[in-house]
Amino acid sequence: MDLGLKGKRAIVLGGSRGIGFYTASLLVQEGADVAICARGADGVREAGSTLVALRTGARVFAESADLGDAASTRAFVQKAIGSLSGLDILIHNASGFGNDNSEESWARSFQVDLMAGVRAVDEALPALKANGGGSIVFVGSMASKYYFGRPPSAYGAAKAAMRTYANELAQTYGKEGVRANVISPGAVWFPGGSWDKQKQNNPKFYAAVERAIPLGRLGTGEELARIIVFTASPAGLWLNSTHLAADGGQVAAVD
Ligand SMILES: NC(=O)c1ccc[n+]([C@@H]2O[C@H](COP(=O)([O-])OP(=O)(O)OC[C@H]3O[C@@H](n4cnc5c(N)ncnc54)[C@H](OP(=O)(O)O)[C@@H]3O)[C@@H](O)[C@H]2O)c1
Repeated sequence: MDLGLKGKRAIVLGGSRGIGFYTASLLVQEGADVAICARGADGVREAGSTLVALRTGARVFAESADLGDAASTRAFVQKAIGSLSGLDILIHNASGFGNDNSEESWARSFQVDLMAGVRAVDEALPALKANGGGSIVFVGSMASKYYFGRPPSAYGAAKAAMRTYANELAQTYGKEGVRANVISPGAVWFPGGSWDKQKQNNPKFYAAVERAIPLGRLGTGEELARIIVFTASPAGLWLNSTHLAADGGQVAAVD
């Protein structure tokens, strides 16, 4: 199947490593030009060089930006659109990972998971509409719908708010060809990621999570990237206002 991504232009917010980097890599391999950001300047530079090496002629814009900061977020999206000469796809992948109940965690999750998406969409919509439409994908979490036995924290609540916002975008801008969807990963393993650290530091817990997933293992960065990229691509055109649980069946719910 041709995903229809040749010549398309995509932004991945939080794209220097992990699921965001796997997503940016697949987009480049499928023929898209890509812009990525992250806070760490070295990481974003290295990721940019790796993306350029993946495909001769790929246009890649990689720059440091803090998605917890309004001005930095808006400036990055504007520069990325300028560098790519337009925009077809916006993917908001970064998280504030507010995994406790502190004021600081709530503020960070609200800014990074939710407000960075709001601000990026705000900046991106004119470019998406100018091109006859486009696709917005938010990377959420199964914590937005399921209680994983942890004390209250900002993380799942911020991801749940993201889903409501995505639905409102889809309903409002669908008539102008702009789609919006949320992909919620379950537990995803990749080298150096949070589940890799659990595997090394807390192997019993890691093994229990593996047993809880019907497929018997955690997902991979590549597997998540395929789902995100398909949803974002023209091949995923009839997905709009959708929340996709990408968790290998870990959450035993019908919908
Ligand atoms: N991994 C999983 O098992 C899992 C499960 C459920 C949901 N998810 C969701 O999937 C997404 C990606 O997770 P991941 O595990 O791949 O994360 P990760 O490995 O920590 O990578 C996060 C990426 O976002 C960037 N980033 C983080 N905060 C940022 C900020 N304030 N401004 C700019 N860039 C920022 C990071 O670079 P810098 O640190 O240099 O900024 C990095 O490039 C998140 O939304 C997460 O909630 C992941």
